[in-house]
Amino acid sequence: MRQSTPPRTYRVKSFGCQMNVYDGERMAEMLAAKGITPAPEGEEADLVVLNTCHIREKAAEKVYSDIGRLVKAGEEAGRKPLIAVAGCVAQAEGEEIMARAPAVSMVVGPQAYHRLPDMIDKAVAGERATDTDMPEDAKFAALPKRRKVGPSAFLTIQEGCDKFCTYCVVPYTRGAEISRPFADLLREAETLCESGAREITLLGQNVNAWTGEDDAGRSIGFDGLVKAIAALPDVQRIRYTTSHPNDVTEGMIAMHGEVEKLMPYLHLPVQSGSDRVLKAMNRSHTAESYLKLLERFRAARPDIALSGDFIVGFPGETEPEFEETLQLVDKVGYAQAFSFKYSPRPGTPAASFEDQVAKEVMDERLQRLQAAINRDQLAFNEGSVGRTCEVLVERKGKLPGQWLGKSPWLQSVFFEGEAAIGDMVRVELADAGPNSLKGRVLEPVAP
Ligand code: SAH
Ligand code: SF4
Ligand code: F3S
Repeated sequence: MRQSTPPRTYRVKSFGCQMNVYDGERMAEMLAAKGITPAPEGEEADLVVLNTCHIREKAAEKVYSDIGRLVKAGEEAGRKPLIAVAGCVAQAEGEEIMARAPAVSMVVGPQAYHRLPDMIDKAVAGERATDTDMPEDAKFAALPKRRKVGPSAFLTIQEGCDKFCTYCVVPYTRGAEISRPFADLLREAETLCESGAREITLLGQNVNAWTGEDDAGRSIGFDGLVKAIAALPDVQRIRYTTSHPNDVTEGMIAMHGEVEKLMPYLHLPVQSGSDRVLKAMNRSHTAESYLKLLERFRAARPDIALSGDFIVGFPGETEPEFEETLQLVDKVGYAQAFSFKYSPRPGTPAASFEDQVAKEVMDERLQRLQAAINRDQLAFNEGSVGRTCEVLVERKGKLPGQWLGKSPWLQSVFFEGEAAIGDMVRVELADAGPNSLKGRVLEPVAP
């Protein structure tokens, strides 16, 4: 590979989950600390980081089409961008990317991206490099301080997964479960507030598997951490995602009734309503035990909005088993839910299970499930009409004079009136659709 001039502009494109969005922000901060600036909108960047997702085949294939597009755009502009592939595809298929895509000069996994600045220097000197280590040395400690963030900011508190659901790549791409230290998290939460955040969303593949020690050396769990972050005066709202049914504790349920700043929203994936399928997925919970958990959350916080994830067409899923999923959805009445067609992933046990479900069957089941979910989402939003709630203003809406923010129940609320980004305003919810609500500002809320 020939030498190139040091990049002056960058673009980071993140795909997949919120943890990738968080990693993308941290990579951008590192590049900025190196004196590289964000490429202006509509202009090709000198350095492009594709921060990829491996969760389903479609997501993973996207990286190759993106590389192709970058190469073409570069040829048309008469120059070659430096391309780095980061994220979970980098971890899973690093060598293959290097072999298939000569235009890529850097491949860096999710646990090694603090080394990206050094890799860039090498790439400028003409050296291609792959780094998919999962080093013991703390990645987070090597990252620069958080600078400018929006009113709603992410904070990764836990990474990795030890659950090994039979369909899932995450334990392989992100490694074993680790918790970031308590003191580091409090410091980062404070910095986020100094940089403009009002709401902090705690992130992890299994966020409620977090454990640590408080300042006095006492061991604490996820609920202890949430309470400590709520005690920071500049934090106005706390959210978290994604939690796992098997790591739910009494304290975690109780905190929903105790911590005022904790928003009434719970994303607790279940994947299927059939116990036979759940067992084959290695989920270690049943439909019934999941429903019991939700009942306890609702007892602690009656207005809690519930959300989940579903996979249709897992190998061997029969029509009656799929109908059990529909029945579970009917019982819960989700405020929001995400559903996916099963995608066989290389190296996972389920990819070699017999009885893979036909594509047409999956399509049809997905449609039925999504219709049920949309119906419930609309009903949940319609149930909010007439309510007054606080909305954190996140950005301008598409129409002139319009704003967009989130209700406590994570609903997108469009409204007009006196407001600014970062304000907390009291809004009357007036009109509901399946994905958003329209509201009317009543008054600003004193911080
Ligand atoms: N750690 C989280 C989320 C993991 S990925 C959890 O366990 O809840 C997000 C979602 O993607 C999963 O909840 C699951 O619904 C879906 N997913 C994961 N692997 C998949 C696969 N091979 N095919 C289809 N959907 C998948
Ligand atoms: Fe994947 Fe299961 Fe771990 Fe979630 S809990 S990341 S679905 S292996
Ligand atoms: Fe995708 Fe990796 Fe997140 S596979 S969903 S980016 S953990």
